[in-house]
Amino acid sequence: MCIQRNDYILVLMSKHMKVSILGIDGYIGWALALRLIGKGHQVVGVDSLYTRMRVKEVGSQSVTPIESMENRIKILREKTGENIEFFQGDVNDPEFMYSVVEKTKPDAFVHLAEQRSAPYSMIGLKQARETLMQNMGGTINLVYAMKDIVPDAHLLKLGTMGEYGTPNIDIPEGFFTIEYNGRKDTLPFPKFAGSWYHWSKVHDTNNLMFANRVWKLRITDVMQGVVYGTRIPEITDTGLFTRFDIDEVWGTALNRFCTQAVLGLPVTPYGKGDQRRGFLSLEDAVSCLMIGLEKPPEEGEYRVYNQFDQHYSVNELAGIVKERGEKVLGRDVHIERVENPRVEMDQHYYNPENKKLRNMGYVPVGDLRKDIDSILMDVDRFRERAEQVKNAIAPRTFWKKSVGLH
Ligand SMILES: NC(=O)c1ccc[n+]([C@@H]2O[C@H](COP(=O)([O-])OP(=O)(O)OC[C@H]3O[C@@H](n4cnc5c(N)ncnc54)[C@H](O)[C@@H]3O)[C@@H](O)[C@H]2O)c1
Repeated sequence: MCIQRNDYILVLMSKHMKVSILGIDGYIGWALALRLIGKGHQVVGVDSLYTRMRVKEVGSQSVTPIESMENRIKILREKTGENIEFFQGDVNDPEFMYSVVEKTKPDAFVHLAEQRSAPYSMIGLKQARETLMQNMGGTINLVYAMKDIVPDAHLLKLGTMGEYGTPNIDIPEGFFTIEYNGRKDTLPFPKFAGSWYHWSKVHDTNNLMFANRVWKLRITDVMQGVVYGTRIPEITDTGLFTRFDIDEVWGTALNRFCTQAVLGLPVTPYGKGDQRRGFLSLEDAVSCLMIGLEKPPEEGEYRVYNQFDQHYSVNELAGIVKERGEKVLGRDVHIERVENPRVEMDQHYYNPENKKLRNMGYVPVGDLRKDIDSILMDVDRFRERAEQVKNAIAPRTFWKKSVGLH
């Protein structure tokens, strides 16, 4: 049966949604699960615990203590009376993916279950292949399972602002209108990613556009900026913390800088530090995903939005961490530029658009300085855990030295 747009919206408004979070054990996935449960939606979750395993391999751990999936669900049930049905397995396994979709038949999928570290993908051929095959494999399994089992469901897929690279023109939200040799068309904006990880997201985007074209699946492809922070209001108990990575492979810039400040290590922008990227707080990331779920695309629509609050240069962020660190921690924080392990422009034009989510009702609440204060306090609280992994912070993965077959 094919339901029309208005009926579909009514279904979503009249009953709560059943949302399947692929990657529920991760940084964003767990926070989103807490928000969805809090809003009365039903959540099912899938995860292979891949990130836990790979983070451990580089001698690191989440600075915030995180419970096993089993305990998280138990704690949440005790607090809210709500349950999460959890399936442990690899979304790159087609049989597993089909069986979970068949058993759960959700209204929407949030697909976060990918290898998400740019440095990991650049360690060598093995990791590059793993990233490309696994990420594209999971996404292709999902769109086939959707087409065959729940063709009316909505897929909200996490891509990255890094898909666009840093072109010397403004970056639109997915598509732009261009005139060439006297003819005009609206086309996907060219992508120019900076790691195998980012390219895996570009390939996913192409595959999603095609799945939408042939099977009319409803798809939202989110070009997300870098997420920072340890908190959303639903994290009311230590047992409900989401993960927070700070090492050179799995940690993102701002989270890493805050940890360096707490540990009395220099804050280390890579290269000249003028690289600009879009950032948003964990709270804003979760609220954007909620908007995407609650305001789904039209039947057969593929839409793209750029999900970030503000863009900052790495130097600006380091400067703010220094300022807040000195205030909150009461001691000097030093900034020390280090050789850039990545191959990227460290001075460039950057002007991405981010109007669509705002037009859909997104009002950012993240306040960078306040959020940094809260990260600094949480990392300080779990300083012992951060100390244990401080040797994993300095860059060791250099794009130019990526290892081949031998
Ligand atoms: N955190 C950011 O700053 C950021 C920015 C842009 C885009 N994203 C994207 O958002 C998504 C979530 O990011 P995150 O920071 O929460 O990452 P994360 O690694 O903390 O979460 C991803 C989860 O997916 C699971 N997973 C990975 N591969 C899987 C597989 N094949 N099968 C089953 N489970 C698998 C992992 O175990 C992990 O729990 C990722 O796709 C990432 O690329 C994140």
